[in-house]
Amino acid sequence: MLSKSIEKALNNQIRIEAESSQIYLAMACWAEVKGLEGVANFMYDQSDEERMHMLKLVRFVNERGGHAQVSALKAPNVTFNSFKEMFEKLFDHEVFVSESINELVHITLQEKDYATHNFLQWYVSEQIEEEAMARTILDKINMIGNDKGGLYLFDRDIQQLSVSTAAAESPE
Ligand code: FEO
Repeated sequence: MLSKSIEKALNNQIRIEAESSQIYLAMACWAEVKGLEGVANFMYDQSDEERMHMLKLVRFVNERGGHAQVSALKAPNVTFNSFKEMFEKLFDHEVFVSESINELVHITLQEKDYATHNFLQWYVSEQIEEEAMARTILDKINMIGNDKGGLYLFDRDIQQLSVSTAAAESPE
């Protein structure tokens, strides 16, 4: 059974994951209308993943005697000055999500809620991967600079990155 304070903290994380899904959906749209098909597909996949993160929390809260809240969401940023800026925002957002997960883990320890603590370990690992992937992408973008040919190859290769990440995660 969840305590009221843990339930509230988990519901807050549900909203953050839902907002993450919207943020990446808006990035997918921006990339798609700019003709960056690979980047758009990558962002659509990221958006789906965030919805999965949200649903996992929703099911957990409901199964543990709480009531998952489907709340109003903050509107995401829909335009970007460059695709580099867009990926910087993605990285910053993932760092923010990691901090939020860490805070949640901290609360479960304070309250000695080891079931929720155990459940959250999946999110801790997921955030390590997401931050690492965002960092790898930013490194590549910095190498490309303003080179159009580089951007073309990047758009092609990023599809591979999301496919290989999905393959690495599938054996569950
Ligand atoms: Fe669900 Fe990318 O954090």
